[in-house]
Amino acid sequence: MQSNNEIVQLAVEISELRQSLKDHNYRYYVLDDPIISDADYDQLLQRLQQLEQIELQQGGEIPADSPTQTVGSRLSHVFEAREHLEPLLSLANAFTDQDMRDFDRRLSEMIGQTLMQYIVEPKIDGLAVNLRYEAGHLTIAATRGDGKTGEDVTDNIRTISDIPWSLTGDDIPEVLEVRGEVYMSKASFEALNAQQQQKAEKLFANPRNAAAGSLRQLDAKITASRHLNFFAYGAGRGIASLADTQSGLLQRFKALGFAVQDFDLLADIEQVLEHYAQWQQKRSTLPYEIDGLVYKLNTFEQQGMAGYVARSPRWAMAYKFPAEEVTTTVRDIIWQVGRTGVITPVADMQPVKVAGVIVSRATLHNVSELQRKDVRSGDCVVVRRAGDVIPEVVRVVIEADRPRGELPDIPALCPVCGAHVEQQDGEVAIRCSGGLSCPAQLKERLKHFVSRGAMDIEGMGERLVNMLVDEPDQSLLKLRSVVDIYRIDYAQFQGREGFGDKKINNLMAAVEKSKSTSLEKFIFALGIRHVGEATARAMAAFFRSIEAIAEADIETLQQVNDVGPEVAMSTYDFFRERHNQDVLQSLKGSGVWPEALPEEEPKSADDHPLAGKVVVLTGTLSQIPRAQAQAALRQAGAKVTSSVSAKTDIVIAGEKAGSKLDKARELGIEVVDEDQLMRWLQR
Ligand code: IVH
Repeated sequence: MQSNNEIVQLAVEISELRQSLKDHNYRYYVLDDPIISDADYDQLLQRLQQLEQIELQQGGEIPADSPTQTVGSRLSHVFEAREHLEPLLSLANAFTDQDMRDFDRRLSEMIGQTLMQYIVEPKIDGLAVNLRYEAGHLTIAATRGDGKTGEDVTDNIRTISDIPWSLTGDDIPEVLEVRGEVYMSKASFEALNAQQQQKAEKLFANPRNAAAGSLRQLDAKITASRHLNFFAYGAGRGIASLADTQSGLLQRFKALGFAVQDFDLLADIEQVLEHYAQWQQKRSTLPYEIDGLVYKLNTFEQQGMAGYVARSPRWAMAYKFPAEEVTTTVRDIIWQVGRTGVITPVADMQPVKVAGVIVSRATLHNVSELQRKDVRSGDCVVVRRAGDVIPEVVRVVIEADRPRGELPDIPALCPVCGAHVEQQDGEVAIRCSGGLSCPAQLKERLKHFVSRGAMDIEGMGERLVNMLVDEPDQSLLKLRSVVDIYRIDYAQFQGREGFGDKKINNLMAAVEKSKSTSLEKFIFALGIRHVGEATARAMAAFFRSIEAIAEADIETLQQVNDVGPEVAMSTYDFFRERHNQDVLQSLKGSGVWPEALPEEEPKSADDHPLAGKVVVLTGTLSQIPRAQAQAALRQAGAKVTSSVSAKTDIVIAGEKAGSKLDKARELGIEVVDEDQLMRWLQR
C-alpha cells in the first residue's frame, strides 16, 4: 500500500509528464521544431505508460487526451466552445475631456475621501483572449466570444512567443486566468499584406482583422507564419493572489514571462487630461496600432469599491482617439447595389492612407447625404476612418481657384440590372426594384448566406459566388437563389482552372455540412433586414424553431431581447412574403433545416419568486440595461410583456414611469421599484 505522500507524488509526476509530452508533440507536429530526440521522447512516453498502469491499478483512470492515448496524432480542440472561469468584461468609452471629468467625479463620489491613483495603458487594437494556466501550465486559450464562452484557440496561441507555455516562480495560483490582447505589429501587417498581394489573395483591411484572421486558422502552422504578439493586461480567476494593484499585476506578469506595455501612474484628473493630450502625437510612434488609452483605478481595493455596471467596470474608462482624417481627390461618384437593393453613392478616390490602411472608396451613405455634403467628381475631400468602420467622406474642401465638377446624376435605373429605382415613403434610401433578378442583389444575398456567421460554407467565397451567378454557359447551373447552392452539379467544375479534386470535394463537404447548421446561424443567414447575429441568437433562444418565428405576430416578436418595432416588422414581413416562403420550403425540401431547440427549462424557476409571473417593465432603469433585465427576468421564469392588463402580475417601475404605472395602480396590480428588481435578480 502506498502512503498518501507517494500517491500525490505519482499524480504530480504523471501530470508533468503529460504536459511535457504534449509540448513536445506540439513542437514536433505543429512547429516542425522538436527540441528532443525521438529516443528521448520515447523514453518519456514509456515512463508515462508505466506510471499510468500503476495509477490504473489503484483505481485511477487514463484521460482520453493523455499522450499515451493519442500517440502519433495531436488531439485537437480547435474552436470548441470553452467557458471562461470568470467572464471577460468590456470597457466604457469616453470621447471628450468632459466624459473623463464625469468619470473622475463619479469615482470620487464613490471612493470618498481616500486618495485615488490612476494607471494608464495604451488600448491595443487587437482581440481579447483568456489564457488558463493550471498548475503553472497553459491548458486552454480561448477567444473572448460573448464574454462567458469563447472558442478554443490553444494551438494557435502557443505559436505566440510573448506567451509562456509554463509559469515559473513561487506563489503561482493553482488556476490562473491571464487576459490580454493578441495583436499584429504594423510591420508584420505590412509584410503579410505584401505577401498576400503577391499570391493574389485577399488583403486584410487593418492589423486587427489580420490578427483575428490569423488566430482563427485551423492549421496552427499558418498562425505561426503570421507573427502575432500579445500583451497581458488583466487576470480573471487567481488575480487576488498575484497583486493588489494593477501596476503590481503588470510587474508580476512581466516576471512570469509575459510581455506587458509600459504604463504611467497619475494623481488626478488634470494629469489624466494632460497625459491624453500628449499621447495624441505619441500614438503613431508605437510599433502597433492603438485606438485610445485605458485609465484604471490602480488599487484593487478601490476597484472593488467602484464595482461594475452591466458588463464593464466602473473603475476603468477607455478614452478613445478621434478618428484620423486625411484629404484626397474624388475621381468619380459611383453607385453600389447592396443585398437588400439599397443603392449607395460611393466616392471613388485617389488612394490614400488613413488610420494605417490604404483606401480608395468611401461611402457617402445616401442621396440626401451626398447632396448635403455636395460632393462632386474632382473635389478635394476630407476622409475619415474610425476603427473597423467603413471610410466615409466627411466634407469637401472648397478651394477658390479649383473649378467644380458637375452635380452627380441620381440614378433612375439600377446601374447593375437596369430595373427602375424606387424610394419608399419616409425612407432616405433609394432601391433597385429588380429584387433577386438583379445580379448585384443576388450576389450580395448569396455572399451573406454562405458567410462565416451564417451558413459558413467554406470555399464558397466572393469569387465563386460571382462566377456562379455570372455563368455564361446556358447548359450549366447558374445560381438564382440560395436554394441553388444545394443543387450544384459538381461535375461542372471538373477540368476548370483552379478546381482540383480536393477543392471540389471540400466544397461539396462544406455545402453538405451547412445543412445541419444551428437555428441561430440559419436565422442570420436568411438576411432578414435589421436581424444581425446577436438578434438572430436572441430569436433562436426565444422561439426555438423556425416555424415558431414564422408564425409569431409583431407583439410576440417584440418580446425578444432588443427587438423593437422596426425589427419585429421586418421579420414579420419577411415570413409573409411569397418568394421567401417558397425559398424556405425549397430549403426544407433539400434537407436544409435547423433542428428545433428543446424547450428551455427556466433556471431555478420553481423556487424563484418571479417564476410563472407575468411582468411588465416600465420607466427608466438606472442599474441595469433594460434588455439585460428582460433576459434575466425570463431566466428566472417570468414572462415579460409590454402592456399592462388584468393578466399582469407585477409591474416594475423605474424612474419617470407614466401611463403603465397609472394603469397598474388602477387595476390594483403589485408595483415594485428597481431596487426590488435587483434583489430578485441577485437571488
Ligand atoms: S482592460 C475589465 N486594458 O479593449 C476591463 N483592455 O474595448 C478589461 N483592450 O475587451 C479590459 N487594451 O480587449 C484593458 N490596456 C488594456 C487594453 C484593453 C485593449 C481591449 C480589451 C477590451 C476592449 C474594450
